[in-house]
Amino acid sequence: MTMDQVTFTEAELLLDHDMAEPLIEGGVRCHGGFDDAGAYVSPRTKFRVPAIEAWQAQNAETFGTEVIHVPLDTWPEHMPNVAQARHLISSGVPEPLIATLTRIGTVEGFGANIRLLQPGDMQQHFDEDIRGTAIDHLGTGLFEAHGRDEAGWEEEAGHKDMWFAARDIAFESPTANVDIDAMLARMGFGQPGSGPGAEVARALPDDIDVNLELIANLMIRVLFIEVQAFHTFAWAEEWLSDRDLVAGDGRAADLVSFIRADETPHVGYLKTALTEMRDRTWIGTGGQRHRGVDMIGTLWQRGLDQSLGDGRLQTRKAVLGEVEHWCLERPGGADILAEFHSLAGDQEAAA
Ligand SMILES: [Fe+2]
Ligand SMILES: [Fe+2]
Repeated sequence: MTMDQVTFTEAELLLDHDMAEPLIEGGVRCHGGFDDAGAYVSPRTKFRVPAIEAWQAQNAETFGTEVIHVPLDTWPEHMPNVAQARHLISSGVPEPLIATLTRIGTVEGFGANIRLLQPGDMQQHFDEDIRGTAIDHLGTGLFEAHGRDEAGWEEEAGHKDMWFAARDIAFESPTANVDIDAMLARMGFGQPGSGPGAEVARALPDDIDVNLELIANLMIRVLFIEVQAFHTFAWAEEWLSDRDLVAGDGRAADLVSFIRADETPHVGYLKTALTEMRDRTWIGTGGQRHRGVDMIGTLWQRGLDQSLGDGRLQTRKAVLGEVEHWCLERPGGADILAEFHSLAGDQEAAA
């Protein structure tokens, strides 16, 4: 039996470490801060990070299984790639990058919708005890911490505004010259039925509680977005740190590296709770038993198909649409566009 603490109050899961210095960037007071040694410390991780470790250890002890693994190379590299980003900026067409950073920030903001989920009494859905698990803390701290990290909380900006701050540092407040609403509309935001809250058809047996399916399904979809985001961080940090290419002396890239650090507990708690659900027996509303491995497996496969299929096509279309839109406004735009396409990597050229 593990001696580590596995039960936490909501206040504990939302609690910051003591910080020596706050994170203020581009005039924006962001969440997180720095310790005495000047290292970045993610917000709300004083108890959340050790909690995730303790729950994982406990699940391994109880079920003898490994935590669900989601390899980053399930997804292709970021599109546009670094060479394409450099090419657009040095050809005087930075707007598609401004659009991409705006789109990423906007999607991060949507991530806060996870806090709208209402897990209620989760024990009724599972045969085995869930006391002292991540499942048991979803509605009492974990979803709320995640939502605050993404969309901000009180006076502290979250990821949404941190991406916008990175954009404004790198491109010196481009929003003065670019119609952001029109840009987002071109990329398909603000249309009814779009976005992560859109209605999803049922995939699990009828007697599985609808709310439980909704929660597990959204957690899987968000997990896939969170893991894929590590391609985006690597991509953005590479060209945003180039002092000859963009403004800000690397500060925009630093901001992205802080966001990246904050995502690790998101991936951690989602993987942990989904693993706990996978390893348990689910109880239908009529008392029927279902194997968690089948329930999670079904939602997992559907989510992966969507992410690698339609989801990727939509993002690709939105990004390429912006690239074409802005290149063709420039003299010689067709040549800039042709060069952009010639810089596509093998994965993208084959798409
Ligand atoms: Fe985020
Ligand atoms: Fe996240």
